[in-house]
Amino acid sequence: MKPSIRPITITAPRGLLPFLKNELTELGFPIVWAGETALGTRGVFTDTMRMNMWLRTAHHVLYQLKEFACRDLETLYRAVVVMPWESLIPLNGFFSVVSSVDHPSIRDHRIVNLKCKDAIADRIAARKGRRPDSGSDRRGAVVTVFWNRDRCSVSIDTSGEPLSKRGYRKIPLRAPMQETLASAVVRATNFSGNEHFVNPMCGSGTLAIEAALSATGRASGLTRDNFGFMHTLLFDETAWGEICRDARSKVHTPGADCRIIATDNDEKVVDAACSNAAAAGVQSVIEFSVADFMETSVPAANGVIIFNPEYGIRLGNERELVKTYRSIGKFMKQRCQGYRGYIFTGNATCAGNIGLRSGRKLKFQSGKIDCRLYEYDLYHGKGRC
Ligand SMILES: C[S@@+](CC[C@H](N)C(=O)[O-])C[C@H]1O[C@@H](n2cnc3c(N)ncnc32)[C@H](O)[C@@H]1O
Repeated sequence: MKPSIRPITITAPRGLLPFLKNELTELGFPIVWAGETALGTRGVFTDTMRMNMWLRTAHHVLYQLKEFACRDLETLYRAVVVMPWESLIPLNGFFSVVSSVDHPSIRDHRIVNLKCKDAIADRIAARKGRRPDSGSDRRGAVVTVFWNRDRCSVSIDTSGEPLSKRGYRKIPLRAPMQETLASAVVRATNFSGNEHFVNPMCGSGTLAIEAALSATGRASGLTRDNFGFMHTLLFDETAWGEICRDARSKVHTPGADCRIIATDNDEKVVDAACSNAAAAGVQSVIEFSVADFMETSVPAANGVIIFNPEYGIRLGNERELVKTYRSIGKFMKQRCQGYRGYIFTGNATCAGNIGLRSGRKLKFQSGKIDCRLYEYDLYHGKGRC
């Protein structure tokens, strides 16, 4: 199959699309369509490799192979079995099929995965005399079926595992923020990389690490060694080597006006966050320390101070939490003047106890929990309490 210009769909969790749109535009790709959890663009296969390297808020990059009218499972089988899978999936490789299905004849999408897997295996066996292994593991080639009413598309998931799995979180701890969400939250603060970024209650360090990746121009794909595209016959190793070299050449030291400070009152948590930062290649630019949030040193000047406190649903006791949120508000008002202050939380009652008037409120989702990023202007001399 020729690696020609084809439709590319990029998925992201609900709430991250505005950030993904900006990222895609910055990479120079046109946005052909936009839904709630996916964007469409066009490109050749090597473009998907560049997207996998750079997109910080995407989950999957899907390179579409075929789109067709689909009435039932037999139509699906017939459409898939004629595709040239022998020139897409290596005989000694491994593949899996995943699907998203909205069709009245299908109660369980796993039957679609199975039918599609059979069609691929039958096609390769007919051409090559045997077939590659298959299963549900996403670490090999991943084929994605998107079947909505009478239209069906079949794509290669060039990411494989979701891009939120950057590969740096060796020790996840309790209630970690997903890497893609953390990256979108950092973007939402408009952190420039030329100002300070202070993150008390840092937990596994995800926010600080994503801020450091951004401030050092380090592509999120540099920490990952496995992508779905590597397991297809369309994989161009030379082009990937070039994409990696280019990404490495863009890594730089942040300016003197940018200190990234991350603290937590739990020593084990700080140790884990340090290991995660080391795996992400940004340990040297984050100043980690064990401290109560009230003791976090906030350099004079300006920047971003951001908290992701426990919010009761997954961790913590609400009454105690309300007290903590009040103290966070006081801390921001008294110690963080000149900064833009942020709280990311899934607990509106707790956020209401911060005691500062919030400006922007941005909606996000963390797993199934509706969350908000609350912004507070902490300008010199006016805490706007
Ligand atoms: C929801 S977790 C933060 C998760 C983090 N964003 C991540 O991605 O892993 C909240 C963190 O606050 C820390 N913490 C709770 N009370 C604290 C306090 N008084 N001072 C400093 N850290 C505190 C906890 O140890 C926990 O790691």
